[in-house]
Amino acid sequence: MIDSNTSLFGLFGNPVAHSLSPVMHNRAFEETGYNGRYLAFNIVDLSTAVKGIRALNMKGISITVPYKVAVMELLDAHDDLAVKVGAVNTISNQDGKLTGYNTDCHAAIKALEEKTAVKDKEIALIGAGGAARAIGVGIVSAGGRPTVYNRSKINGEQLASDLDSEFYPLSEFGRSECQVLINTTPVGMTPNGEAMPIKTSALNKEMVVMDIVYNPLKTMLLKMAAERGAETIDGVGMFVNQGALQFELWTGEKAPIDIMRSAVLDALKS
Ligand code: ATR
Repeated sequence: MIDSNTSLFGLFGNPVAHSLSPVMHNRAFEETGYNGRYLAFNIVDLSTAVKGIRALNMKGISITVPYKVAVMELLDAHDDLAVKVGAVNTISNQDGKLTGYNTDCHAAIKALEEKTAVKDKEIALIGAGGAARAIGVGIVSAGGRPTVYNRSKINGEQLASDLDSEFYPLSEFGRSECQVLINTTPVGMTPNGEAMPIKTSALNKEMVVMDIVYNPLKTMLLKMAAERGAETIDGVGMFVNQGALQFELWTGEKAPIDIMRSAVLDALKS
């Protein structure tokens, strides 16, 4: 029931219409009995929206594309990992003090480590945006060795340099060996479900292939990887993990992660 004590949470991004964060978080509040509600806000003016968090005493906000970097300078504090990644996907409001966190980083490594060790692995990161940066920092912290493959040289070289790794143009993927491949680009996302970020011929059965795209659940990249005998990891794991970490930061309670996962999977099916 919504009453005068209900705490408001939300997603700030643009666009947000297809986000599954509201379904996932509201189901978690319902399951735990936490008196909160989560809404998606299509933000046209970020700095005013951030002032609104304080003004309305909203308790927590998820930040998505295109605001994960831009929001940083509008906050009062950041945790060390958010600074290291250079992007914030979570804001927590403690008595008007807004702190930025990055839960994508641990979320990705947890999803990966459910299927494969990261330490000492050669890991190809496809893409060099905010998600690639969070995952790359996580890989390095976990002792893995990332290599950046990206469409544009400037973004790819910058990320590779920050991770102390190498950059290659995306078109050259397949020349070098990797044990784990992670797609962090939106290539393959609905409605472009036939698209692949790399050539099928570059996939082999020794690889673990992860896609952070979760709509569709089985992207063309994952289908082709499975056909070639590779182990695959879909994007729901990382998405649910980052949401579960947000829930725990905001409420101080353990996240009902299995319920959150089923809420997302049900929404994807319908
Ligand atoms: P996010 O925060 O989700 O990572 P982003 O910062 O916009 O989003 O980054 C998207 C990444 O996907 C970028 O690396 C982008 O490549 P560029 O650096 O060349 O822009 C990559 N990307 C987006 N569309 C792509 C496409 N059609 N083919 C290849 N790479 C693409």
